[in-house]
Amino acid sequence: MKKVVLAYSGGLDTSVAVAWLREQYNVEVVTLTVDLGGGVLKEDVDRRAISAGASRAYVVDGKERFVRDFCWPHVQAGALYQGVYPLATAMARPLIAQLLVEVAHKEGADAVAHGCTGKGNDQVRFDVATHALDPSLAVIAPMRVGMGLSREQEIEYAKARNIEITISKESIYSIDVNLWGRSIEAGILEDPWTAPREDVYRWTVDPDRAPAAVEIVLGFEGGVPVSLDGERMDPVALVEKLHVLAGEHGVGRVDHVEDRLVGIKSREIYEAPAATVIHRAHRALEGLTLSKDTLRFNRIVADELAQLTYDGLWFSALHRDLRAYAASSQRVVSGDVRVRLDHGNAIVVGRRSPLSLYEKSLATYEADDTYDHAAAVGFIEIFGLPLRTEAARHGAVGRHYGAAWTWTDPLLEGLPTRVFDAPSAAVK
Ligand code: ARG
Repeated sequence: MKKVVLAYSGGLDTSVAVAWLREQYNVEVVTLTVDLGGGVLKEDVDRRAISAGASRAYVVDGKERFVRDFCWPHVQAGALYQGVYPLATAMARPLIAQLLVEVAHKEGADAVAHGCTGKGNDQVRFDVATHALDPSLAVIAPMRVGMGLSREQEIEYAKARNIEITISKESIYSIDVNLWGRSIEAGILEDPWTAPREDVYRWTVDPDRAPAAVEIVLGFEGGVPVSLDGERMDPVALVEKLHVLAGEHGVGRVDHVEDRLVGIKSREIYEAPAATVIHRAHRALEGLTLSKDTLRFNRIVADELAQLTYDGLWFSALHRDLRAYAASSQRVVSGDVRVRLDHGNAIVVGRRSPLSLYEKSLATYEADDTYDHAAAVGFIEIFGLPLRTEAARHGAVGRHYGAAWTWTDPLLEGLPTRVFDAPSAAVK
């Protein structure tokens, strides 16, 4: 092995990893830092990498690609892991892996490396994605194969080698950030009964202290947001603006016990203000524009896609095909959604679309009703046919199983009942 491309954040762990890789494996180290937004790109990250011993430092702005090719397909699919997690961390990994492989090819490297531990999902995502793209590349995770230094040891290690580090106050949480969301775990959060302290949150205000509610309008085309309050915006700008707005109103906090891929249940806190509003609005617009069968089927696709993304299987054929289905189903999901940001809640209060399936003349209870009420009788006759047949052949369900209570037991005796008799004079 001669050359390794390391995913580099500029923090203590990965700075030490640069030197550690060089010393342990006697290799040249090239670093790759991918800016995915969220304000975590370290200043002068390339200079830090060089000071740690890298021969070359790549810094890539991946924000646009991240939103367009990774977040948007999940919005179209409505994919949230276990129904709540917008997958910010999980979606970032395959993109970073793809860039690692590209840099490895450009540099003629034999391996890529990342700073994940052996206990989480992220190592799996990096390794699996890398090998899907190029099985000949080795993947090294220093934290998994012996670099297990304590924080103090890492600081010593860096100082001894003149590596530039900023010794910030040690975070009591483990945090991953990009513009789609913040993921926070560990520390006092490891007790699932302990409520998160306010210091967990950076992007969302305490809903109790949020200002008076406001209403926004999100415009969608083909299942992805394209405008905010009537102003057309490019994807990154839209997410960033919505992020601030929703965060100010305390929207987007998730407190969740989650099932990790490696078999562990883990308590996770997420802050995802923009993702929360976008997913909610998108779902409302689907309700207006898609048939009930498509809506039902889309739930299955959403759960499958979320699971595959969570499990690091982005580059699988099934992931690709499900994304293609989701995108196709979204061709009519265009229109506007009104959302009220109200003390931690994002409540849909209106939706409209030129492709709406909502037919006022059918839904109305007013005089201009065009629905054929009499036709309902024939419909119900046919619709209820199987149930009437079943009841006639098997009896009402429950009867033959020796249960103490059956559908055909009289209920009247057991339920509080009032009976009024009309005054005898009123009965003619
Ligand atoms: N549980 C989330 C996931 O697996 C977030 C992990 C975040 N990583 C971290 N170091 N906090 O996608």
